[in-house]
Amino acid sequence: MAVSNIKEAAEAIKRSKFAVAFTGAGVSVESGIPAFRGEGGLWQKYDSNVLSLSTFYRNPAKAWVDIKKIFYDFFGQASPNPAHKVLAQWENNGIIHAVITQNIDNLHQEAGSKQVIEFHGTCSNMVCISCGKKHRSSSVNLNDLPPRCSCGGVLKPDFVFFEEGIPEDAYKKSFDFAEKADLVVIIGTTGEVSPANYIPQIAKRHGATILEINPKPSLYTSSITDIYICEKAGKALPEIQKELEL
Ligand code: APR
Repeated sequence: MAVSNIKEAAEAIKRSKFAVAFTGAGVSVESGIPAFRGEGGLWQKYDSNVLSLSTFYRNPAKAWVDIKKIFYDFFGQASPNPAHKVLAQWENNGIIHAVITQNIDNLHQEAGSKQVIEFHGTCSNMVCISCGKKHRSSSVNLNDLPPRCSCGGVLKPDFVFFEEGIPEDAYKKSFDFAEKADLVVIIGTTGEVSPANYIPQIAKRHGATILEINPKPSLYTSSITDIYICEKAGKALPEIQKELEL
């Protein structure tokens, strides 16, 4: 896949009638949140098993020690970077219809995006595994683990663990958008995790153009990507926005 340029990306966006963004951990790296894979990735430091449902249920207290370190010690400290802000601007200007994100960091919403589909749930809430009650993560005391509900049940983060199903509403909306989209802007994902990674592929099969922004090639780059911007999201998106304003 040859590396494209900002002009081509802007042209594709101008031509599109129904564009959606599909984002992964890479879009939040410039906000200070490490990605999962690649150098310095979280799965090099932690065993991804800590996020499997069976490990969590087997010993919630033990699983919570790493979950707190990975997802909650920095929770609320990261803020949206220029990439999140441009995507919010594009939704506002009617350029994109939605952001389908694999991320659980709420940064798209904090940047002002409204139509955000959280395919893997969110860090912002926790749910009691006994009574199902939802709690805002900001109101949960994480000094003694595992955190518990007023009913005494253990709280689980409201994001999708390995071996866990995708929230039905997010699943349905995402694949509906994938079938309707004539342009998918893929930003910052290896494309390694299913079923999320099918979303751009379904769109492609329905005739969509695929624009990808990633400083490293992903599983999409030499398979379905039509326009590849080999650049960090925080730099490429403002450059495309500048090109659109010309
Ligand atoms: N701008 C754009 N992309 C970037 C940047 C950046 N500044 N920095 C890194 N990237 C790219 C990397 O090149 C890589 O392709 O972001 C991608 C991050 O890949 P992963 O860490 O695998 O993240 P993601 O694809 O979102 O993982 C999918 O895996 O562990 C699960 O549930 C978790 O949602 C996550 C899923």
